[in-house]
Amino acid sequence: MSIIDQAAPIGVFDSGLGGLTVLQALRERLPHERFVFLGDSARCPYGPREPKEVKAFVLQICSHLARRGCKMIIIACNTATAAGLPAAQQAFDIPIVGVVMPGARAAVHMTRNRRVGVIATEGTVQQGVYGEAIHHLDAGIKVIQKATPEFVSIAESGFEEMDEGTTQAAPFSLKEECQRVAQGYLAPLRAEGIDTLVLGCTHYPLIQELISQEMGPSVTLVSSAEETAREVRAILSRRDELRSPGEDDGVEVLITGDDATKFTRVAQKVLGITPPITKVMLDEVREEGEGTS
Ligand code: DGL
Repeated sequence: MSIIDQAAPIGVFDSGLGGLTVLQALRERLPHERFVFLGDSARCPYGPREPKEVKAFVLQICSHLARRGCKMIIIACNTATAAGLPAAQQAFDIPIVGVVMPGARAAVHMTRNRRVGVIATEGTVQQGVYGEAIHHLDAGIKVIQKATPEFVSIAESGFEEMDEGTTQAAPFSLKEECQRVAQGYLAPLRAEGIDTLVLGCTHYPLIQELISQEMGPSVTLVSSAEETAREVRAILSRRDELRSPGEDDGVEVLITGDDATKFTRVAQKVLGITPPITKVMLDEVREEGEGTS
């Protein structure tokens, strides 16, 4: 069992930009912590990939973040959580938290008519993790899940044109093409009479405006960011690993692709800061069971 330094950073990762929405919620709830965010942009999107491949990415990235001395890791990606959370928790001896259970919990707290929609990537929907997690908390809730993969590319590319002073990829909501995509995806969910819609992909809060326009005011949109941040704080507090106020709190961003400019722009919008961004090479993809101990 390794000795954990309270001042050690918290690792957070996603396939791309979406995880920054979770990072922001973490920063708000844990203002004294240091964060290392890894965006695996060279391999984004994860959604269409086989779960086995995504699981290997999860183990590889966790290994990278653990070697950087992270005291805890947040898998800020639903697809990666669905494919790799249990394997990562078994392989590493630091706490590893995913975003599916917190999102499910938030939805169960929110719904009144017990009809909940979930939109997510193909990978997340195929693995049925949200249905399982919600039913674990309330087996009487009707869960309607729908894969909405094009929302990932809208969110990723929307930032090119994002307005000043907003975290939304707003111009896209005005574009007919995006509205057509949103209508095609969301009209069937509206017809199901849901009162709560889980944004089961961390990219989706970035295009929340587009989604809520289509769903209307009677449907509450739920993202897992807030609930995840609450859980992370509770875990660190229980383990007495919360960091005391210090000089060098902040965020460091690591990316695997060549899109530093995009990450800088989006980090400025979502986090309100300009963190240092470094391109990293990950080591060999690890197999399950090769974790630290
Ligand atoms: N942000 C990821 C998630 O929460 C999905 C994006 C992707 O397909 O890579 O599932």
